[in-house]
Amino acid sequence: MWILFTFRFYILSLKSIIWLCISGAEFSSKVGICYGQLGNNLPSPPESAKLIKSVKAARVKIYDANPDILKSLKNTDIQVSIMVPNEIINNISSNGSLADQWIRTNVLPYCHHTKIRYLLVGNEILSSPDNITWSNLVPAMRKIRSSLKAHGIPKIKVGTPLAMDVLQSSFPPSNGTFRSDTSSTVMKPMLQFLNRTKSFFFLDVYTYFPWSSDPKNINLDYALLESTNITYTDPVTNLTYTNLFDQMIDAVIFAMRRLGYPNIRIFIAETGWPNGGDFDQIGANIYNAATYNRNIVKKLTTKPAIGTPARPGWVLPSFIFSLYNENQKPGPGTERHFGLLYPNGSQVYEIDLSGETSEEEYKQQPLPKPTNNELYKGKIWCVAAKAANRSELTGALSYACSQGNKTCDPIKPGKACHKPDSLVWHASYAFSSYWSQFKRLGGTCYFNGLATQTIKDPSK
Ligand SMILES: *[C@@H]1O[C@H](CO)[C@@H](O)[C@H](O)[C@H]1NC(C)=O
Ligand SMILES: *[C@@H]1O[C@H](CO)[C@@H](O)[C@H](O)[C@H]1NC(C)=O
Ligand SMILES: *[C@@H]1O[C@H](CO)[C@@H](O)[C@H](O)[C@H]1NC(C)=O
Ligand SMILES: *[C@@H]1O[C@H](CO)[C@@H](O)[C@H](O)[C@H]1NC(C)=O
Ligand SMILES: *[C@@H]1O[C@H](CO)[C@@H](O)[C@H](O)[C@H]1NC(C)=O
Ligand SMILES: *[C@@H]1O[C@H](CO)[C@@H](O)[C@H](O)[C@H]1NC(C)=O
Ligand SMILES: *[C@@H]1O[C@H](CO)[C@@H](O)[C@H](O)[C@H]1NC(C)=O
Ligand SMILES: *[C@@H]1O[C@H](CO)[C@@H](O)[C@H](O)[C@H]1NC(C)=O
Ligand SMILES: *[C@@H]1O[C@H](CO)[C@@H](O)[C@H](O)[C@H]1NC(C)=O
Ligand SMILES: *[C@@H]1O[C@H](CO)[C@@H](O)[C@H](O)[C@H]1NC(C)=O
Repeated sequence: MWILFTFRFYILSLKSIIWLCISGAEFSSKVGICYGQLGNNLPSPPESAKLIKSVKAARVKIYDANPDILKSLKNTDIQVSIMVPNEIINNISSNGSLADQWIRTNVLPYCHHTKIRYLLVGNEILSSPDNITWSNLVPAMRKIRSSLKAHGIPKIKVGTPLAMDVLQSSFPPSNGTFRSDTSSTVMKPMLQFLNRTKSFFFLDVYTYFPWSSDPKNINLDYALLESTNITYTDPVTNLTYTNLFDQMIDAVIFAMRRLGYPNIRIFIAETGWPNGGDFDQIGANIYNAATYNRNIVKKLTTKPAIGTPARPGWVLPSFIFSLYNENQKPGPGTERHFGLLYPNGSQVYEIDLSGETSEEEYKQQPLPKPTNNELYKGKIWCVAAKAANRSELTGALSYACSQGNKTCDPIKPGKACHKPDSLVWHASYAFSSYWSQFKRLGGTCYFNGLATQTIKDPSK
């Protein structure tokens, strides 16, 4: 009797184990969260799992296959998306055993308890200057897919997140066209793969970037999904748009149509709005971030689904970027301010990704009024950050001085700006001098976190 019982129990649990690994991706309107880990002050994976639940995320996307994170999400209902790192795509594309090894190491040990549903191959590969990897991307996706099949877990969807720069034209939306350098060599075989495997076109969509680079011609409310009366009608299709988000997605849909794949589903792999940034960045504040993310959640969770003008009623599954403000992301300040949460776990603003909190409930906690919806026109300096590590600062100082034209001449001994003869002053001078020459070329005031912007003249 006992033996029979345990035997049956064994069969049952074996069944449920297999079931969790092979059950498919649910195509629902639920909103997920991107869990980036580029910070040196972030909560541990188990604490993060609690915080992910506290913002009511239904899914989580990670940028690797971190075993501690996968363990901390076990026995939850949260659907998980994991990622094959960019660096191994070339090797995987030509080596099926390497793909098998990756799946055996990173998926099989966890998919019994953790709902791994999406496997993304690389991150924004077609935005990277390394164009060798471009042609290996789809072959690598095929190898990963074959390996999942061979291991009996074919229902995990394989995709790759792409940014809007895969388009060479996106306006009007009906004119959406993939870039000519990848259209026939990468996009066409990719769409064929996504179609055959019933997977998704994973798309990173930020209305913040087009708006902030052209705030005169694009209305802020249109970018924030706030406007009720601004519309744009595409002259070719007559479709009417009420926000920039729909316009961007439809541009991709028309580009896919142009290549003969009109029905591939879109999955929003990232969207969001920065809650802060540098002095020379516009509209990056808590008020706008809360407005955008609350509006996006409302749009994406409304039932029945709203879709976009080109695809009314279609569900758009999604991930919001991002869980935390990540202090080690390079680039301009906005990059480090996309979080719903501060690194200490408290919310930057109230947000509920389930869509169950109404606008009125949110409004009970008034948000700080935005102060930078216009571009700051005063002078900005790039100076050494207060807590900068001295040995790292020395390295950054000599790097900055080695770049550009006469960057550090005035702080040489005997020259006008040599005094005060301190490392912090010299580094601040060098950073400002470097930045004033390089910002028009895309240079940033960051230096691995050693530099920061200020509007107070550092020489005073
Ligand atoms: C790719 O494969 C080559 C040859 O086997 C190896 O030398 C190289 O280290 C591999 N690259 C990575 C990133 O694993
Ligand atoms: C393919 O990957 C396997 C597993 O990592 C490795 O042992 C093998 O050397 C690789 N083959 C080639 C041709 O690089
Ligand atoms: C990669 O870029 C180089 C330099 O721009 C170009 O000559 C080459 O044709 C490109 N290769 C592919 C596969 O796009
Ligand atoms: C459509 O896109 C092409 C480039 O692909 C561009 O030259 C053209 O100006 C665009 N049409 C409109 C109306 O903007
Ligand atoms: C939209 O409505 C706002 C507030 O009602 C008004 O200030 C604005 O002028 C309107 N814009 C357009 C384009 O009608
Ligand atoms: C768009 O609307 C115009 C005027 O209402 C009409 O003449 C045209 O045929 C319509 N085009 C399409 C593609 O529906
Ligand atoms: C795949 O392509 C076929 C032929 O174009 C089309 O009928 C089908 O709807 C497509 N499926 C998806 C998921 O895109
Ligand atoms: C968390 O960090 C933020 C930003 O640094 C700060 O404003 C807030 O007071 C902190 N909250 C707690 C509970 O420490
Ligand atoms: C400063 O940075 C160096 C090099 O990264 C490191 O070895 C050292 O521990 C750091 N010092 C402090 C006080 O953090
Ligand atoms: C340095 O000077 C040269 C020659 O005047 C110029 O072409 C170059 O753009 C300058 N570099 C920077 C970073 O301003």
